[in-house]
Amino acid sequence: MASLKTGKITSLFLTEIYIQKAFLSPRDTKSLQEECYQIRDSDAIGQRWSQKNYLGGYTSYASIPKVPLLSSSFLDLEKKIHTHVARFSDLLDYDLKPRQVYCNSLWINIMPPGVVHTGHIHPQSFISGTIYLSVPPKASSLKFEDPRLGFLMAAPLQKKKLKVEHQRFFQFAPQAGDLVLFESWLRHEVPANPAKKDRISVSFNYDWKSL
Ligand code: NI
Repeated sequence: MASLKTGKITSLFLTEIYIQKAFLSPRDTKSLQEECYQIRDSDAIGQRWSQKNYLGGYTSYASIPKVPLLSSSFLDLEKKIHTHVARFSDLLDYDLKPRQVYCNSLWINIMPPGVVHTGHIHPQSFISGTIYLSVPPKASSLKFEDPRLGFLMAAPLQKKKLKVEHQRFFQFAPQAGDLVLFESWLRHEVPANPAKKDRISVSFNYDWKSL
């Protein structure tokens, strides 16, 4: 039971995210980045899909939803991610035994200048995340939204200076090589990329099953 402190706030129902800085070395970041462009250039179906659904950008989400199936370096990447997802799940107090976390999709996102990814959640998974391969100067952050936003009815404006855990939005400004994990129900978006170069990331969804 949470320890109840008289006259003080007791925190309940936390929203937790997991960040691993420098998850990838600069060398791995660079070689995966090059492979992303190779996959994009050979994926005509994905390019067509992106033209309609990801204006100005490229994602392999619809055409190659499991990149590790066609690339050994992405398979290695998936194995590396697995450890952190298992750890995050444990820290969140999920009891998966005898099952394990399982990567059901892992795909590439290339966002040239001006490209936007509007607010969404990731259904049919319980942990999602992103690894950043290229984050040029001024590139967009990952913007998380307070899941209670739709329930706030008569709430007043907030103070100009407030605790980070009281913010209605939180922007994670990644660097190349970083990993971020969050629960899949947590709504998030990538605002229009104001950078002069491509912002490249790899996103993934995990559920849990017997392996
Ligand atoms: Ni997402």
